[in-house]
Amino acid sequence: MENNLVTTAYIVASALFILSLAGLSQPETAKRGNLLGILGMAIAFGATALICQGYPVQIGSIGLGVLVGVLAAARVAMTDMPEMVALLNSFVGLAAVLVGFAEYLQPSAALTGTDITVHRVEIYIGVFIGIVTFTGSVIAVAKLRGWVPSRAVLLPARHVFTLGMLGAIAFLVAPFLTATGSPGMWILAAMTAIAGIFGIVIVMAIGGADMAVVISLLNSYSGLASAAAGFMLNNDLLIITGALVGSSGAILSYIMCKGMNRSFVNVLLGGFGETTSSGKAAALEGSATSTTTAEVVELLANAQSVVIVPGYGMAVAQAQHPVAEITRLLRAQGKQVRFGIHPVAGRMPGHMNVLLAEANVPYDIVLEMDEINDDLRQTDVVLVVGANDTVNPSAKNDPTSPIAGMPVMEVWEADTVVVLKRGMSSGYAGVENPLFFNDNTLMLFGDAKTNVNGILAQLSTSTAPAPALAAA
Ligand code: TAP
Repeated sequence: MENNLVTTAYIVASALFILSLAGLSQPETAKRGNLLGILGMAIAFGATALICQGYPVQIGSIGLGVLVGVLAAARVAMTDMPEMVALLNSFVGLAAVLVGFAEYLQPSAALTGTDITVHRVEIYIGVFIGIVTFTGSVIAVAKLRGWVPSRAVLLPARHVFTLGMLGAIAFLVAPFLTATGSPGMWILAAMTAIAGIFGIVIVMAIGGADMAVVISLLNSYSGLASAAAGFMLNNDLLIITGALVGSSGAILSYIMCKGMNRSFVNVLLGGFGETTSSGKAAALEGSATSTTTAEVVELLANAQSVVIVPGYGMAVAQAQHPVAEITRLLRAQGKQVRFGIHPVAGRMPGHMNVLLAEANVPYDIVLEMDEINDDLRQTDVVLVVGANDTVNPSAKNDPTSPIAGMPVMEVWEADTVVVLKRGMSSGYAGVENPLFFNDNTLMLFGDAKTNVNGILAQLSTSTAPAPALAAA
């Protein structure tokens, strides 16, 4: 009876997870998708608690986990979400490692003959995926927080080193399957140490702009780690959810690779963010022209078509609400205002879409890079709000640039480009941006929110048409 109930609950939870993923694919249905996921997880918790012994420990650990999770999620700033996601991925990896060691130390007594060997294989694979996910995610957190350099850190002869580590991991399989007791434990521990270093090396080797793909790839690995834990614990729900996370993460990584013109295999092997042999992008010359909010207001008043290209700086400044207000004002004046979103703008997939949705910007004026890039040459004014790498022309024009080949928003094609940022510093990839020195680029220096608020205040009060428009 209890078993039937648990099986039914697992089927319902699995269906809810699938519906949740379907909902998350569209901004309009994302909230519903999220709620369905929460409901599925609650059912999964309840059902798992039913089949577990030791209720006090169960309730205590679930209660503590819920408390820490709710507090952390409630307190985390939107700009720190990618670190939070990477940290949670690392927990999934660590959990798979711990489950693997526990299963080795105390395997089910019901296992006999070949079942034992199959179980050992599950443990070996599960611990391998888990530890790579754990150490890789910890390095990703360190890179995102700036604790280690965000550029590609490449070991000399790293391909030999990487292949050597994979060879050693493969070599240890046979002794692990035949060993018993503590020698088997030592082999598992040795493999864990090697695979842990492997995870560190491959993520350290990925640099700057390419970290976006790595985050979604590690998310996919965390799904595989859950599925592996499911196999070890003989838990169907863990296998299903792990497969869902693993496959959707892999598909997202593939789409991002295509969007950024990168090879999926290279990402898997690590290190494609490395610089070219010269190691230096072309030196930049010229001077940037700074502007004022009053001048930008005048430009906007005279423009018919405006495209806003947001980036990580908009998230840092939390400028999305005044940006949305400016959009409403300009649209009310009959101007065409649209947003252009680069697939890796910000620090997590869909980062800009989430911010714009939060500020109630209508979905139909928020366009993907491919949908709007061709229109930029017929655009009067482009406002670049805190974006840098994603609008860097050297990705297109300078084959020596570390971000060469990455598709970017071609904002320089517009009549005038206004870049809102605090100074001349480079973006996440650490690459200089020649856009700032173009003749048709104006730099509006300062915090994006302060400046956007300044523009908004002047736009709200200026009811009279701008001089050029009046004269026309
Ligand atoms: P970035 O290249 O990161 O540049 C953001 C710019 O915002 C900085 O140059 C900074 O310049 C400016 N900024 C920061 N705070 C600001 C503030 N308060 N007000 C105004 N400006 C501010 O941004 P992007 O164009 O969005 O590119 C994203 C980068 O992150 C890409 O390289 C991408 O590959 C990488 N990445 C993305 C992801 C995902 S999944 N999206 C994950 C990891 C990494 P100042 O300091 O001069 O103000």
